[in-house]
Order: sequence, then structure tokens, then C-alpha cells
Amino acid sequence: MSTLYERTLRRAGTDPEGFWAEAAEQISWVKRWDSVLDDSNPPFHRWFAGAQVNTCYNAVDRHVEAGRGQQPALIYDSPVTGTTATLTYADLQDQTARLAGVLRNLGVRKGDRVLIYMPMIPEAAVAMLACARIGAVHSVVFGGFAARELATRIDDALPRVVLTASCGIEIARIIDYKPLLDDAIARSAHKPAATVLLQRPQHSATLGPGDHDWHEAMAAAQPADCVPVQATDPLYILYTSGTTGIPKGVVRDNGGHLVALDWSMKNVYGTAPGEVYWAASDIGWVVGHSYIVYAPLIHGCTTVLYEGKPVGTPNAGAFWRVISDHGVSALFTAPTAFRAIKREDPHGDLIRQFDLSSLRTLFLAGERADPDTVRWAEEKLGVPVIDHWWQTETGWPIVANCVGLGALPVKHGSPTKVVPGYDVRILEHEGGSAGGSRELPAGETGAIALRLPLPPGCLPTLWKNDGGYIDSYLSEFDGYYQTGDAGFVDEDGYLYIMSRTDDLINVAGHRLSTGGMEEILASHPDVAECAVIGIADSLKGQVPLGLVVLYAGSGRTEAEIVPELVQTVRDQLGPVASFKIAAVVDRLPKTRSGKVLRGTMRRIADGEPYTVPATIDDHAILDEIEKTLAELGLPRL
Ligand code: COA
Ligand code: AMP
Repeated sequence: MSTLYERTLRRAGTDPEGFWAEAAEQISWVKRWDSVLDDSNPPFHRWFAGAQVNTCYNAVDRHVEAGRGQQPALIYDSPVTGTTATLTYADLQDQTARLAGVLRNLGVRKGDRVLIYMPMIPEAAVAMLACARIGAVHSVVFGGFAARELATRIDDALPRVVLTASCGIEIARIIDYKPLLDDAIARSAHKPAATVLLQRPQHSATLGPGDHDWHEAMAAAQPADCVPVQATDPLYILYTSGTTGIPKGVVRDNGGHLVALDWSMKNVYGTAPGEVYWAASDIGWVVGHSYIVYAPLIHGCTTVLYEGKPVGTPNAGAFWRVISDHGVSALFTAPTAFRAIKREDPHGDLIRQFDLSSLRTLFLAGERADPDTVRWAEEKLGVPVIDHWWQTETGWPIVANCVGLGALPVKHGSPTKVVPGYDVRILEHEGGSAGGSRELPAGETGAIALRLPLPPGCLPTLWKNDGGYIDSYLSEFDGYYQTGDAGFVDEDGYLYIMSRTDDLINVAGHRLSTGGMEEILASHPDVAECAVIGIADSLKGQVPLGLVVLYAGSGRTEAEIVPELVQTVRDQLGPVASFKIAAVVDRLPKTRSGKVLRGTMRRIADGEPYTVPATIDDHAILDEIEKTLAELGLPRL
């Protein structure tokens, strides 16, 4: 007898159109589709072509119309401001419609972009939904990015309006958003027509010409109705790190996204409407887009929006307090948060102080979940701990233990099996033929690729960059999307994620480009050459380490240069990069063709065995690097 998981996987694989059409019945459409999957223009596949829909209607209004207006939609829990507040679906509808009216008054029309630069407050979710309501395309920028990163996104998305707040709060530190935004707009070639700013009690910003006060604008606005958009129209752009300093604008559409996220809530996360779901992330990341805002609301759950860090002083035990205060049934966070908790409460004493009977499952994603941490969480919480793997581009899980389809046995170190709808293959290049590939047998490590077409919800392309979409993802293996991760599948079909195949690193669950950091270091006037590698860190999984070669005769010492480099990355990329370790070296190890041996240096830094590459002539240089890294006293896993 096959299991429900196996039957669902088979059905999604053999009849994807029938499978997703059935899932689409859970969504309210203005007009149904002409074709479930339009594959007339490969490799650009479009789901639910010809359909019309509104994402905000599905996330908010339809629940009110179904008589659930008084159900909590969003619980705001903010220890940094000492506030908790609950918005019902009716409240959310009212605020969203009003803010949509504000945007409309500012000339925002269907297809226009709106940039959202906001902390973790309910208005940030309202802002996203208000855009969706009138068919505007939002682009949320994470608050931990610096002005230069914000400027890059403004110049790519060309937003008509910016929605922001006066400040963010990082534990006890007030982050003054307005100067950051002003600096970004001064740097960008494109100038948004207007900014709407929410004044928070913790800090008041000075408004300039073209700036509008959020509350005044809301009071003056007429509520706006949901506007039908094409299912294939963009809902949002979310920029994510690529291999250079220029981020990639991942596009999400409306129809496929609605269907996939709703399906995932029931089948991947095993969550029912009315239950409380908490993704402890930030709306600036894909986890925040998909599982703080859209999926729980589309599915009619109550979402928790938490402002602050749920670990460390003074918030130790915050995870457990929030779960017990709000009756959370599913918690989703990054393994790094659990490593931090394990470090501060190794015996789980704080956990025992709270009633966690509502918690059914803990989900971990965003970076490798190390088996020690997973076992610790299983033991201390007494609930299944589900590692699952996906990325900004897909928007929802690729490989998971789909608890809604019947949990499979857990193998520590593996995010379990492919999610129905995806077709995961382990590939390597075949010698000779360009684009040719060979599928690897069980147990052999290769590039993890997804057979096209990708299921609904995944990126249809990059923002105004079809060529970049093909070059970045589709050109390596003909007929496949390459994920940038390497790994293998075992005899039982469990996937193991081993490493990235590019120079992206994962710092505290945040995806960052070492190439982007190298560009910043190289701009320092004394730096002739540099390399940034991701090294193992016992808390954050990985942290960046910079090695720089100074111009001959620069006359500067390491003690002078390193703090400048650290500050430059913080100023230009943002504090979230956690770039704190750097050293000056005489030269960098390179192959005969001039390629810097980043992989070998990373192995040395992590204390892993390494072989001296055959392509290197100068062996002594690796000894020098080993000595420099040993002197740094690195924080290894
Ligand atoms: N605005 C401004 N600064 C921010 C910021 C924001 N929104 N978010 C983070 N930063 C800053 C932090 O204050 C910190 O600054 P510091 O170097 O001055 O201390 C820096 O960016 C690095 O932040 P972070 O990587 O979050 O490290 P941390 O040591 O402050 O906290 C954890 C570590 C594990 C507690 C934290 O990352 C966490 O709670 N993660 C949970 C899950 C998560 O967010 N996952 C991501 C996607 S699933
Ligand atoms: P992001 O797009 O920021 O969500 O980052 C996606 C990348 O994070 C993936 O391509 C992986 O490299 C890594 N990642 C996400 N989830 C996992 C996981 N469960 N195990 C290992 N790596 C993961």
C-alpha cells in the first residue's frame, strides 16, 4: 500500500495540471484560467494563464465575507516596545483598504512599484497587502541593509512611492530610518515621487517636501477596493544576493503564488485555518513574505509578527513565552536561533517554565540544520523538528517532511524528501557537450537541479531581466533550474544539502554574497587584492572572513586597516553582513590561471583536511595562509 505522500507525489508528477487545478479550487478567482500551465514560450512557463484574481482579497476580504472578521489575523508581539496588539481580519481589511486608498491618492496604479522599508510592525504587513489590493508591485527591503543596498534596489525597481517608518529598534538601539532612506534616494538615479512615513513613539523623523505623515494620510483616504489582476501579473519583487554586488530581483506572480502557498500550509506544514502560525523571521526575507504575511493569511490562520530578537538578553525565553501566550501551533525559524537558545539555556530550564502544549511542530530552514541542534530541540520540546530546504527563488519548500501528508521518519542531517510538485535531480556535466548533463546515482554528490517547469509559486523570471534569469539559473543544465546547492540523494530518497556551488554564504540564516563584499573591500584605496570566504561559526553557521593584500608602499598597518574594512562593509552593505574578521596577507593563493583558491582557504580556516591543488605552483603560500588564519584564533563549529 502506498502512503498519502507517495500517492500525492505521483499525482503531482504525472498530472501536474490536474493536480494544481484541484489545489486552485481553494482560491477565489475573479475569472478562471484559460490554461493551467501555459508552456507556449519555454523556458518561461506561466501558471493559471488567463485567470484574474486578487491576492489581498484572498488573504483578507474573503475571510471577512465568510463570517470570520472577528478572528485574529495578526498578533503583534513586540518586547522591544513593550507592546502586544491583535488585528482581526476585519481590522486588517479596514487598514489595508485605507492604505490602498493612500497609495491611490499618490497616483499609484496597477503595475507601479512601491518600496517598503519598514521594521517588524503590523503596518509593514498592511503595506504589502495594500499594494496587492490595487495591483501595485511591492519590493520590501530588509532594515539591516545600508543605504547603498537600498539605492541599488530603488534604481532597479523604480518605485513610485516609498512606505517607511521613523525607526527600527534593535534591542536597545534605535535605527533612524529616514537618514538611511534620504541617503539612498540621494545616491539613486531614480527619485520616487513620494514617501509615506509612520512616526513611531520611540523616535520622530523630520519630514521633507514630498514626505507624507502615515496617520494623516490614512485619516484623509477613502478605502480602496481590491482590483482584479492577471494571475501572471507580478505581486512583488524580492531582491536576493547573487554572486556579484548587484542583487537579483526575484519576481513572484499572483495566481501560482496563492495556490502554492495555500497548498503548502495544509500539506507541508499541516496547519488548519484558525490555528496560530509563527514564522520568527523578518518581512525583509522570503520566509517573512511567504510565511509571516501571505501563506498564513491566505489559509485563514492567525500569524504572529514578532519585533525583536527572540533570544539573548533581555529576551531569553521569549520563544516559549510567545508560544504559550498566543497558543502557537507551528513555529518556523532558522537553526541559528536554536543554536543561540541552546547556548544560553543548555538544559532547557526556561522551556519548562512555560505551557507549550499548543506547539505541534518546529520547522527549521534557511541554512543547514546541524543534527546536534535538531536533536536538542527534539528532546527539549518533545515535538517533531522538521528541517526543510528551499530558497528565495522558489518561495516555498522544495524538500521537506510534509507533515500534512503524513510525517516520514526523520533522518538527522536531511530535510527529508522532495515536496510534491517539484522534480529534484542530482546532476553533473557530461564531458564535452555544452549543457549536457548526467544524473548521478544515489549517494553521489552533484549539483541539485529542478526539472522544468517549476511548480506554481516559483519565480517566473527576474525583474526586467529575462536574460539574467536564463543565465543565472537555466543555462547550466538544459531543461533544468540549477539551485546553486550541491548535495546527494540516499537509497531511501532522502536529500542531503552539502554546500553551495557558488560564492554565496549563509550568515545566521541570511544569504549573502562574498563577491559583493569583495567589491566593497576592493574599493578601499589601500587594497590591491582581496578574497572573502565563509568560515564555520558555532552560532551563525557561517561568518565572512576577509583577506586583503595591500598596495606595495601603502605604509598602512593591519591594525589600522582592519577596523576601516569592517566599518566600510557595515556602512555599505549593512550590519547584517556580520563582517568582523579580516587579515592582511602578502599574497593570495591562486591557480596558474589566476583563480583565487577560496575553497582551499575555507578548508584551512575550518580546520578541514585539504589537498594542495595540482594547479598551484607556489606551495609555500598555503603555509603562510594557514599561519595567518591560525593567528586569528577563528571561532570554529
Ligand atoms: N535593522 C538593523 N540592523 C539589523 C537588523 C535590522 N532589521 N537585523 C539585524 N541587524 C543587525 C544586528 O543588530 C547585528 O548588529 P551588530 O553587529 O551591531 O550586533 C547585525 O545586524 C547582525 O544581525 P544578526 O545576524 O541577526 O545577528 P545577531 O547576533 O544580532 O542575532 C540571532 C543572531 C540568531 C539571534 C538572529 O539572527 C535571529 O534571531 N535569527 C532568527 C531567525 C532569522 O531571522 N532567520 C532569517 C531567515 S529564516
Ligand atoms: P534564501 O534564498 O535566503 O532563503 O537562501 C537559500 C539558500 O539557503 C539555499 O539555496 C541553501 O543554500 C540554504 N538553505 C536553505 N534551507 C536550507 C536547509 N534546510 N539546509 C541547508 N541549506 C539550506
